[in-house]
Amino acid sequence: MRPPSSNQYHQHRGASYVALLMLLLPAFWPGIFSPLDHASPSIFSEWNAPRPVHLSLLKGAIQRHIADEQRSDLWSPLPPQGWKSCARSLDTPGFPKKSSGYIQVFLDGGLNQQRMGICDAVAVAKILNATLVIPYLEENSVWKDSSSFEDIFDVEHFIGALKYDIPVVRELPKELSWSTRQYYAVAIRATRIKTAPLHASMNWYLENALPVLQSYGIAAIAPFSHRLGFDNMPEDIQRLRCKVNFHALTFVPHINALGDALVKRLRRPVHSSMSTGGGYLREMVDELLDRETGKFVALHLRFDKDMAAHSACDFGGGKAERLALAKYRQVIWQGRVTNSQFTDEELRSQGRCPLTPEEIGLLLAALGFDSNTRLYLASHKVYGGEARISALRKLFPQMDDKKSLASREELSKVDGKASLLAAVDYYVSMQSDVFISASPGNMHNALVGHRTYENLKTIRPSMTLLSQLFLNKSLPWAEFEQAVRFGHKNRQGQIRLRKPKQSIYTYPLPDCMCEA
Ligand SMILES: *[C@@H]1O[C@H](CO)[C@@H](O)[C@H](O)[C@H]1NC(C)=O
Ligand SMILES: *[C@@H]1O[C@H](CO)[C@@H](O)[C@H](O)[C@H]1NC(C)=O
Repeated sequence: MRPPSSNQYHQHRGASYVALLMLLLPAFWPGIFSPLDHASPSIFSEWNAPRPVHLSLLKGAIQRHIADEQRSDLWSPLPPQGWKSCARSLDTPGFPKKSSGYIQVFLDGGLNQQRMGICDAVAVAKILNATLVIPYLEENSVWKDSSSFEDIFDVEHFIGALKYDIPVVRELPKELSWSTRQYYAVAIRATRIKTAPLHASMNWYLENALPVLQSYGIAAIAPFSHRLGFDNMPEDIQRLRCKVNFHALTFVPHINALGDALVKRLRRPVHSSMSTGGGYLREMVDELLDRETGKFVALHLRFDKDMAAHSACDFGGGKAERLALAKYRQVIWQGRVTNSQFTDEELRSQGRCPLTPEEIGLLLAALGFDSNTRLYLASHKVYGGEARISALRKLFPQMDDKKSLASREELSKVDGKASLLAAVDYYVSMQSDVFISASPGNMHNALVGHRTYENLKTIRPSMTLLSQLFLNKSLPWAEFEQAVRFGHKNRQGQIRLRKPKQSIYTYPLPDCMCEA
C-alpha cells in the first residue's frame, strides 16, 4: 500500500536539506555570487532538473534532414495483411436456456488491466452458463480513481452487443443484494472464490466455481485479474473474449466526444507551418484546414514516479533523483525491487529500462519524423515535469496533450480521474496514424492488440537495440539513424502470431481473426 503522504514526506525532507544547504552554500550569501534565478526552481524540488543525457545525438537530431521518400513511407497506412476479423461471426443465438446463477467479479488495476478482466469475466460466465453482473472496478492505489464501469464504458451498448452470448445485468436481484464488496471485505464467505490460480483453465472454473453457483446461485470471484488462461480454450470462448474487447467495450459518449474533438484539432494543420500568404492563398489554406486531414503520432509515455522508481534505472536527474527514487522503493516496496540488484548499465544493456522522453524523441527523429510532426502525448503525470520532456519538445515542437488541446471546461468531466483520462488517451491513440509506446505495460499491450486487430501502424521500439546504441557515447548521429531504421523495419505493425502463454488481447491473431 502506498502511504497517502509519501510525496509530502519527500518534500519535507527536501525542504530541510534545502534549508541546510542555504546556510552552507556561499551562493546564497547575497551579493557575493550572481543571482540564482535560473537555478532556484530545481533546488526547491527533490531533483535537479533532468538534463539531456545524449547531447551529441540530440544535436544531430535537431539538424536532421529527412528525405521525402522516407517521410511518405512513415505515414503510409499498413497494407492489408491477409486477415479479417472473425470475432463477430458467432452472432448466432447461443444463449444458455437457463442461467446457472450470477457471476460477480471485483477488478484490480488500472483501466487497461480492468478491461482484460471484463473480457475474461464474460468468458467465465459463458463457460458456466451464468449471468454476469456488471463488473465492479476497484479503486487502484496508484491511480486513485473511483469511477465505476458505467462511468467509463457504455453499459447499454455492452449489454446489447452481448445479447446473443450471455445475459448481463446491471445489479443483482433483491434476494442476492447482500452480495457486495463490503460483505466480502469483512469475513470469509462461502460464495466468494478467492483461490482462482493465475491463468486458470476452463475446467478449473467448471470444477470450482460451478458447484458454488449451483449451491448458492451466485459466485463472487476476487481476485480475478489474469485468472483465465489463454491456451487450450475452445474457439468460441476465445472469439467471445475478442468480441468483448474489440466490439462490446466502448467508452461513454462524453469520452468519445472529447476524443473526437482532440483528434479533429490534431488533424488540423498548424497555421504557422502552412503559408504566410494572404487572400486567395489564405482561403485555400482555410479550406484545407476544414478538411482536417493532417496526420499525427500518438506517443504513450508512462513516466511517473512509481514506474521510474520500480525500474531502478538512472534517468539523469543526478544524485538527488537517485536518492529520491531509492527512498520511494524503500517506502512503497520495502526495497524489494528485483531490478535494484543491478547497476544502471546492466539494466540498460538488457533493455530493461523504460525509454526516457529524450530517448523516445531520438528514436522518432531517427525513424524520420520531422520537426513538423504532430505528436499527441498520451500520458498521465511525467515525473520531473516539463523539464523531463524539454528535449522531446525541442525535437517535436508540435507536441500536444489533452490539456493543451482542450479547454478547462471541456476537460471538467474527466479532470482528476485517472481512468477517464486514460480512456481519452486510449480513444485518441486508436485514431492516430502511428502509435508508439515508450514503455511496455498494460496500456501499451492493450493498444498494440487493438491496433493489430484494426491493422493500424504501431511502432514497437526495440529496447535491446536502443539501449546498446545509447550506451555508446561516441556514436555519430548518422550511424544511430541508420541502425535505428534498420532495426525497426519489421517493427511497425507487421503481423505476429500469438505464441503459447501470450495474451490474446496483445496478440489477437490467430484467435480473433481469420485468414481473409
Ligand atoms: C451450458 O449450456 C450448454 C447448452 O445449453 C450445455 O451444452 C452445457 O453443458 C452447459 N454447461 C454448463 C456448465 O452448464
Ligand atoms: C561506438 O561507436 C563507434 C562508432 O561506430 C565505434 O567505433 C565504437 O567501437 C563503438 N563503441 C562501442 C563500445 O561499441
